[in-house]
Amino acid sequence: MIQDAPIGVFDSGVGGLTVFREIMRQMPNEKIVYFGDTARVPYGSKSKDTITRYARQIVRFLQTHQVKTIVVACNTASAYALEELEKELDIPVIGVVKPGARVAAEATRNGRIGVIGTEATISSSIYSQYIKELNSNAIISGKACPLFVPLVEEGLLQDPVTDEIAKRYLAELIDIDIDTLILGCTHYPLIRSTIAKVMGERVNLVNPAYETARELKGMLGEMDLLSRSQPGLGSNQYQFYVSDKADKFIRFANSIIKYGILSAKQVNIEEF
Ligand code: DGL
Repeated sequence: MIQDAPIGVFDSGVGGLTVFREIMRQMPNEKIVYFGDTARVPYGSKSKDTITRYARQIVRFLQTHQVKTIVVACNTASAYALEELEKELDIPVIGVVKPGARVAAEATRNGRIGVIGTEATISSSIYSQYIKELNSNAIISGKACPLFVPLVEEGLLQDPVTDEIAKRYLAELIDIDIDTLILGCTHYPLIRSTIAKVMGERVNLVNPAYETARELKGMLGEMDLLSRSQPGLGSNQYQFYVSDKADKFIRFANSIIKYGILSAKQVNIEEF
């Protein structure tokens, strides 16, 4: 039955696990196949053509698992490749940008919204475009924060170095008095408390990973695609694939997900 097919989730590497984690929490009956493109990360400094080519290969790989839907769990890939994938696929596909933009457009009171993300996501202005469609008076300011990704991957989630970098990156958003800030990169929810401390409690932080899982649940419900049963023990409810060696991925995954991820298989993604 199609309802029992897995959800395919992909990202440029480990960051999309923040989206995986939300799907797992909000939809505990679903099977998930996760692909992290650890050999080709980061996407945040790459071109649209390259990112779209990578995304197509990953989708072809995920389709070998008969996934019922695809979640583009990477802000950069959502910014550059989602539209193409939507045109090409005959299964539903959802990215992380629209759900985050929607909630920010609704949440702001003073109309000033900040977006932080990779260089590629910020220069695409994709969040601005979506927010403007919903709230044409909103003033949106983007700021690329490229050092946040390596800081998170080094495990410096609560560290004076991360505090200092956050203060420097975020100062200009504080100066323009935003009241809503979108964490527009997969890694940023993991340093949410640092960002919250720097921005102050008046600023509402939007986590697209959470909003995407919520929207996905609604979408699958409407399409009658939600799983009807709890996958049993030994059913491989969660499967992980990576394009480079798996050990670092497994370590990171276990540091942020309380599930006990024992293995991730390496795949030659260039073959797809
Ligand atoms: N996953 C990416 C994103 O959300 C961040 C890491 C990268 O640059 O590939 O934009």
